[in-house]
Amino acid sequence: MDFDNPPIDPVAQLQLWLDQAQRPGRENPNAMLLSTVDPDGRPSARIVLLKKLDEQGIDFYTNYRSRKAVALKANPNAALVFYWDPERRQVIIEGTVKQIDDVESDAYFATRPRMAQIGAWASEQSQPVANRAALDAKVLEIASQYGAKQVPRPPHWGGYRLTPTHIEFWQGQDARLHDRIVYTRNGKDPWQSQRLYP
Ligand SMILES: Cc1cc2nc3c(=O)[nH]c(=O)nc-3n(C[C@H](O)[C@H](O)[C@H](O)COP(=O)(O)O)c2cc1C
Repeated sequence: MDFDNPPIDPVAQLQLWLDQAQRPGRENPNAMLLSTVDPDGRPSARIVLLKKLDEQGIDFYTNYRSRKAVALKANPNAALVFYWDPERRQVIIEGTVKQIDDVESDAYFATRPRMAQIGAWASEQSQPVANRAALDAKVLEIASQYGAKQVPRPPHWGGYRLTPTHIEFWQGQDARLHDRIVYTRNGKDPWQSQRLYP
């Protein structure tokens, strides 16, 4: 990336860095930190996987009753952070999050491995569970309930889409003189970019 002549489209640039992050031995180059603000105003963060990136936004999938979902319902503002080493690259994204269409979540759920589908029913994500045996028993119960039948998407599980308003690219350089470019946009206006001191 040429930080003195930054590309016009930060989404295409993010896709390029994601593609370049796919290297042998690296698991989950699409892992990103998702930071939300809880209803009491405190931040919380966890890793989720990016499942789709395009002009509409950045999609990830989760449980709609989880702690992050409770936070997003009260406050749709969120931040995402990618970090790749040894590339020494960070991307920070901020924006607002909405649930994606049921039809799209259904289509994605249908592509998941069967055990992951069963897990989505079995896990009351972010709620207390007595022990491992209780979780395993629930998985067995749901597996036997569906038998060989297709597992439908649980209504409490699906996608979210973050619409970015801020995308910052950071490239680590020697002597801490790193390169940074931040892109911002209002609504559907063209992206504006600005180089920042490291
Ligand atoms: C590499 C990695 C990938 C993960 N991907 C997801 C994901 O795509 N969706 C998800 O709900 N949780 C994912 N998790 C688990 C979350 O980090 C988190 O534990 C879970 O979503 C519950 O978060 P919450 O209680 O803050 O809502 C992932 C964890 C790791 C370490």
